[in-house]
Amino acid sequence: MAARLVTLLLPVTWMASMAAGTKDSIDITIPKSTDGFSPTWDWNDHCLLEDTNITFTAFYKKVGAPDSDPQICEKTGNCSCRIPSKSLDHSHNYTLVVNAISPKGGTSSNSKDFDPNHKPPPPPEVRITSHNALLTVKIWTQDLQYREQYNLTLRKNDSTEESSIDLRRRTYVFPPSDLLPEQTYCVKVNVYNMQTMESSAFSPEECFMAPAKGPLNNLRVDALDTEYLLKWDWDTERSPNVTFSVEKCSFYDGRCTTIDDCKNITTPQCNVTRLLFRGTYILRSSVYDRLTEEKSFSVIQFSPIKDTVIGPPKELKMRIVDNELYINVSAPKGFSNTDIQSLCEWQTHMEYWISSTHNSEVMVKEAMQPFFKIDHLEASTTYCARAKMRCKDSDRSSQDSEDYCITTDPRSHLFAFIAGFTFLGIIFTSIILFFCGCCLKHYVKQTFFPASKLPLSIEKGFGESPLDSMRHPFLLHKEETMDRCYIVNNSDTEDLGQINHADSSNANSQDSGNYSNEGQTTGETNNH
Ligand SMILES: *[C@@H]1O[C@H](CO)[C@@H](O)[C@H](O)[C@H]1NC(C)=O
Ligand SMILES: *[C@@H]1O[C@H](CO)[C@@H](O)[C@H](O)[C@H]1NC(C)=O
Ligand SMILES: *[C@@H]1O[C@H](CO)[C@@H](O)[C@H](O)[C@H]1NC(C)=O
Ligand SMILES: *[C@@H]1O[C@H](CO)[C@@H](O)[C@H](O)[C@H]1NC(C)=O
Ligand SMILES: *[C@@H]1O[C@H](CO)[C@@H](O)[C@H](O)[C@H]1NC(C)=O
Repeated sequence: MAARLVTLLLPVTWMASMAAGTKDSIDITIPKSTDGFSPTWDWNDHCLLEDTNITFTAFYKKVGAPDSDPQICEKTGNCSCRIPSKSLDHSHNYTLVVNAISPKGGTSSNSKDFDPNHKPPPPPEVRITSHNALLTVKIWTQDLQYREQYNLTLRKNDSTEESSIDLRRRTYVFPPSDLLPEQTYCVKVNVYNMQTMESSAFSPEECFMAPAKGPLNNLRVDALDTEYLLKWDWDTERSPNVTFSVEKCSFYDGRCTTIDDCKNITTPQCNVTRLLFRGTYILRSSVYDRLTEEKSFSVIQFSPIKDTVIGPPKELKMRIVDNELYINVSAPKGFSNTDIQSLCEWQTHMEYWISSTHNSEVMVKEAMQPFFKIDHLEASTTYCARAKMRCKDSDRSSQDSEDYCITTDPRSHLFAFIAGFTFLGIIFTSIILFFCGCCLKHYVKQTFFPASKLPLSIEKGFGESPLDSMRHPFLLHKEETMDRCYIVNNSDTEDLGQINHADSSNANSQDSGNYSNEGQTTGETNNH
């Protein structure tokens, strides 16, 4: 019924807005307020979009009295004004005229009649029924309007503090979690007509006592992903001759239906997994005493989308490559359900630490992707991690995974050391070979061919450049050259030094000549 009303209503409002748009006229509403009228208007959504460039003026005058002076409607905003009750002659009807001027010079004007004797809608009537642990409020208004909204205000009888909710329907079941057992509450309701923008006064307060706590203790739902188990505590030894039943009750009208597998059961729990993930339910569990034939009820509110617990990530896959630890977090089992997957924007939250006897620091990484990398691992160290999924914009998170650990290889560093030392060794040996090669060549020359050049075979064998000597290392036996090297160094230091000195002094004299020339030219230019 309600759905049909809405579908009927939609084209009407659409056509109305189209008509207003094409006519380019000002929409005026003149709701009755406590001491007069509070007109509001709009022109092509300028007010809706809070466009303050449009200038509106408003005045009102008596209908059918051409001599009467127009009265200014005192503006309370760009798109509203106020008409006090005492400024009106209640023996006449009035018309309100609104003019609009846009900065580009466009104008518009419209008027609407109103009756100073107009009464706001009467307050609704309220009735409260309490039945088997459920409290239902029913609202009546004089004539049913399509677009009514009800403001229900609740307070504890012994308090002035109020809480209010907006309702679009005339029946309301109090959520069990909102009421304390056996506490007295009072409610009042008013009605707001969205078309005329008028609200009624509040209904007289209705007081009631919240239901007593049911006999089933600790009624709860163990909800994991999309599996829901309703449970309660019952002392079976003390009261064995009972059966339990579970119903789900509608928030809209308080009607309850028994859940199939939960009729006259003897276990203090029942699987309610078939409830819709996006539904909000009142679950009512009853206990029936076969001997006394008494039945009593306990209720709980359950909304899977809000209340269910998301299970932990399935697994953490750890892998060490090149001294880096790669961790791959598998999504929780519940993520195969699209409702859970789309609950929020999930990110992966990982904690990791080094496992050791003394308490070590826990580090945290968060990422949208379930992949993590930890650099600079230490050898022979155990790295542990656990992860959970977490909503980016709220506190909601999945359960924590188990702890996963991996230990780095002790040889991974030893290998690096060995490689490093081998490399250094090669360089060191090469340097020694080079120097010894030079010395040996000189020694051979001095000893066997003091005046002439070396034979080609030896010249080739020792070469001129260090590279050459490295290319033919097989010609020199490492240990022997070391021995000879000492001899050469001791006997021919002077010669070697002379040769070196001659070479370097040559180069130096050439260089210094160039530099001194430059120095002179710069000196000359400075002097001038
Ligand atoms: C004012 O208008 C209402 C209808 O809106 C009509 O019933 C009433 O008779 C009018 N009053 C006068 C004084 O003309
Ligand atoms: C409902 O009524 C209460 C009490 O008068 C008021 O404080 C609250 O603002 C109202 N809520 C709405 C949406 O009108
Ligand atoms: C509400 O409380 C007042 C005292 O604060 C008491 O006189 C009255 O009877 C109570 N009403 C109900 C319905 O319990
Ligand atoms: C339960 O019922 C059985 C008979 O159905 C009876 O023998 C027994 O005494 C009852 N137990 C209690 C605690 O009332
Ligand atoms: C449970 O059993 C009792 C009788 O033992 C019966 O009266 C009642 O209707 C049953 N309830 C349901 C929900 O089947």
